[in-house]
Amino acid sequence: MATTNIHKSEEVRKELERLDSESRTADQLMKGITVLLNQQMLKYNWVGFYMLEAGTEPAVLVLNCYEGAMTPHVRIPLNEGICGAAASTGETVVVDDVNSDPRYLACSLETKSEIVAPIFVRGDVVGELDIDSHFLAAFGADDRELVEHCARLVGKRLEKE
Ligand code: SME
Repeated sequence: MATTNIHKSEEVRKELERLDSESRTADQLMKGITVLLNQQMLKYNWVGFYMLEAGTEPAVLVLNCYEGAMTPHVRIPLNEGICGAAASTGETVVVDDVNSDPRYLACSLETKSEIVAPIFVRGDVVGELDIDSHFLAAFGADDRELVEHCARLVGKRLEKE
């Protein structure tokens, strides 16, 4: 299992509070979250948001802001990838070894594990926070809490817009 630096998570949570109160829009908040998590959480090597495109049938996730290497997966249908799985089930998906998960859409050869947490607005999935790590099983219970917390902050902010 992953070892997580709990103190680091607490520090990052405080920074998140500050970001949340200082951001004027959901987009600003999302950008701030990608930078903060990528810089402060050593194993979070790619951090990005995918949002469901309004009015597209069948539904598709579109890459929003991100920190990390460029990805070829700018648009992901809901029946594809770890990203599609999280958005279509409304459940956080944690994959300890992406190379043994047939759903995985490769972004970088360095990626070893991934977590994707859905973002809800009034009970509906509107997007997700996706994080890749260059380390196997990088995402433990504390990471899951932190990532879901970030997704909730964005959902709450979107509800006000
Ligand atoms: N690996 C994801 C695709 C997005 S990249 O990680 C940035 C997936 O399997 O859905």
